[in-house]
Amino acid sequence: MFDSGIGGLTVLREARVLMPDRRFVYVADDAAFPYGDWEEEGLRARIVDLFGRLISDHQPVLCVIPCNTASTLVLADLRKAYPAMPFVGTVPAIKPAAERTRSGLVSVLATPGTVKRQYTRDLIQQWASKVEVRLVGSVRLAALAEAYMRSGFIDEEIVRSEIEPCFVEEDGRRTDIVVLACTHYPFLANRMRKVAPWPVDWLDPAEAIARRAMSLLDPATVEDAPRLPDKAVFTSGRIEPVSRRLMQGFGLVV
Ligand code: DGL
Repeated sequence: MFDSGIGGLTVLREARVLMPDRRFVYVADDAAFPYGDWEEEGLRARIVDLFGRLISDHQPVLCVIPCNTASTLVLADLRKAYPAMPFVGTVPAIKPAAERTRSGLVSVLATPGTVKRQYTRDLIQQWASKVEVRLVGSVRLAALAEAYMRSGFIDEEIVRSEIEPCFVEEDGRRTDIVVLACTHYPFLANRMRKVAPWPVDWLDPAEAIARRAMSLLDPATVEDAPRLPDKAVFTSGRIEPVSRRLMQGFGLVV
């Protein structure tokens, strides 16, 4: 499982429930966090190159990318560069949101990178042409989630101002679904609920991603031998005690 930071843990926890016999290696590319601020070519080259090493170091049977900012940019390149490896990506849950909305007003809360991707625009055109979709890029929420998960502290005023553009009122209708299109955001969902101007459905695709991953795995690849512990890898190589504790809390050896 690969993300820029801790966001992918929101998918890992679902995957663990569904696939208790599998061993997971969680990779946080913290040396490059946040991905949301990167220009596309540099980030694409970095991730494709990094996967060459990760695949050879860890020999996975499947790679999951619980990161919208990376998936909307490099999934096709990764599949081309490593054709023998199955990849499961995470892209904004625009299709289910378009199917479920009653008001016809949906917002997609994501990093600035995901918001500007052609991939995201294509999803809207393909699945949500009859719905009004507002794309909201947040420059602060991913870093806020990182800090919150380590310190337990959060400034709710920042959460309020970052989610505020998601709430649209138009001709007596109101936004009724906000797609959490960054895997870091579900960690802040309770705070978002608390400061939201009105109740909405916060769409978190974590379980769907984990199910998709499970569906691609061949049960014959489960090893009989006792499993090595699940582990976390940080690309910076610098692991502060607070990050170590966080990973241990998720059952990962650093
Ligand atoms: N967790 C990532 C995502 O799903 C991005 C966070 C970041 O690095 O900006 O988009």
